[in-house]
Amino acid sequence: MIVTREAIRFWRHGRLVEIADFHPRTTLLDYLRLQQRHFGTKEGCAEGDCGACTVALGRVRGGRVHYEPVNACILLLGQVDGAELVTVEDLAVGGKLHPVQAAMAEGHGSQCGFCTPGIVMSLFTLYHGGEQPPSREAVNDMLAGNLCRCTGYRPIVDAALKACADEPADAFSANGARMAENLAALADGRNVFIGNDRCFFAAPATEDSLAALYAQHPDATLVAGSTDVGLWVTKSMADLGKVIWLGRVAGLDLIDDGTETLTIGATATHAEAFSSLARIDPDLGEIMRRFGSVQIRASGTVGGNIANGSPIGDLAPALIALDATIELRGGAALRTIPLENFFIAYRRQDRAAGEYVRRILVPKLAADQVFRAFKVTKRFDEDISAVMAAFRFTLDGRRIASARIAFGGMAGIPKRATETERAVAGLSLDDPGRWGEAMAAIAQDFQPMDDHRASAAYRATIARNLLLKALSEAASGETHATRIIGRRETLAAAE
Ligand SMILES: Cc1cc2nc3c(=O)[nH]c(=O)nc-3n(C[C@H](O)[C@H](O)[C@H](O)COP(=O)(O)OP(=O)(O)OC[C@H]3O[C@@H](n4cnc5c(N)ncnc54)[C@H](O)[C@@H]3O)c2cc1C
Ligand code: FES
Ligand code: FES
Repeated sequence: MIVTREAIRFWRHGRLVEIADFHPRTTLLDYLRLQQRHFGTKEGCAEGDCGACTVALGRVRGGRVHYEPVNACILLLGQVDGAELVTVEDLAVGGKLHPVQAAMAEGHGSQCGFCTPGIVMSLFTLYHGGEQPPSREAVNDMLAGNLCRCTGYRPIVDAALKACADEPADAFSANGARMAENLAALADGRNVFIGNDRCFFAAPATEDSLAALYAQHPDATLVAGSTDVGLWVTKSMADLGKVIWLGRVAGLDLIDDGTETLTIGATATHAEAFSSLARIDPDLGEIMRRFGSVQIRASGTVGGNIANGSPIGDLAPALIALDATIELRGGAALRTIPLENFFIAYRRQDRAAGEYVRRILVPKLAADQVFRAFKVTKRFDEDISAVMAAFRFTLDGRRIASARIAFGGMAGIPKRATETERAVAGLSLDDPGRWGEAMAAIAQDFQPMDDHRASAAYRATIARNLLLKALSEAASGETHATRIIGRRETLAAAE
């Protein structure tokens, strides 16, 4: 039997912190600001968008401490278990600014100062994790989740390029080996349970413990990265009496990049799955690069993106077009279903009480298949799709033998366009004159909604045009100039 631990433990500022008593809905930001009275970390939007609350979490990867930026506003305090927590207050040593802080100050990268701590923390993770020196594009990607509305980004980017030009040489790198040992010692393989039968924060260490606990408490909220659940707390004031955090379940984050199938464990983060998905097709890499921000990709998981059943989630349409299947476990029972069947109706998924998403199996493309995926948003960075479209054409020479097409943002669920697929099958890539019939078929598959992201008419038009774009790119083998970033560059970046 696995022993239970009744406290979370993490390192901060050279000290081991143990917390045995907290409400499961407590966010990391509330802990820092309201309980610790450490006001350096700011609260702006409280929904993961502005980055003012960014802190860094260090965890051991490949024998060394790897720092990632996270949004403290939507991260639950319990999720810090096992990590090193670094906030903006922890950077300066003996009154001497950290190299990132010094570069920001010297380069006039700060005006109002409110966004600055979050920016500094994002750049701290770049200082420790990125290539040296980083490209301007890498800095821009890193800052996609940090809004600055007064300085303008040029001095901030220049400060980043200056500070991150060389190998890291700060107190964290000097102490890296010891911290790696400290963190390894926290990985005790115990189940964590804090609270009582009515209100608890639990972090099971194994799948068997998770399955048993969830079967006993099917009304508990599963939390993976909390990039959705966190907003229920900050925006809907959800009480979340019982929380089961999946982040410590051994093996649930495994990624197996097989020859024919990519298997992604439910708790693999978007950052972890990024390069494997990009290897299936560069368009998937581009979707992932534009998925939220670095902060969101560091916390958010592939399983969470599927399980939440959002009609505007980015991965579901792409993975449905690739004919992915999903494995679920409830108690000891496992079952596998096509991903498209998982989505039943708006926010209603085929998931029984006590059942959780275990992994997602994604077939790789065959030699005769062409894949295209497009995310249409108002902003390039960190924006939710108005329409997301994915196409997989199986070719017989220059003829499309069959197609799998799926859309997000066009219905109450991520959904296949089966009438359009039928109309596309048999089309010649050399006869664009007939493509219009297939484009018209989209109206039989979807009657899109009007909302603040896009009007129904816009969605209907863009869906037709995305099919045209996919067909013409498949026909020419080229990508078209409406793309802001080319596929080849994205593939190169993923490798
Ligand atoms: C600023 C911001 C930007 C975003 N940008 C994008 C974007 O570009 N594209 C996009 O698609 N989404 C985006 N999202 C939404 C969100 O980040 C993703 O849906 C993310 O993948 C959710 O994963 P998570 O691990 O954080 O899920 P959580 O918030 O932990 O959970 C989400 C839901 O899934 C359930 N759940 C989680 N894991 C499992 C499991 N293994 N089995 C069963 N149920 C489970 C939870 O109970 C909950 O209902 C964004 C969110 C924010 C805040
Ligand atoms: S306060 Fe805006 S991202 Fe957290
Ligand atoms: S310096 Fe604060 S918004 Fe830019």
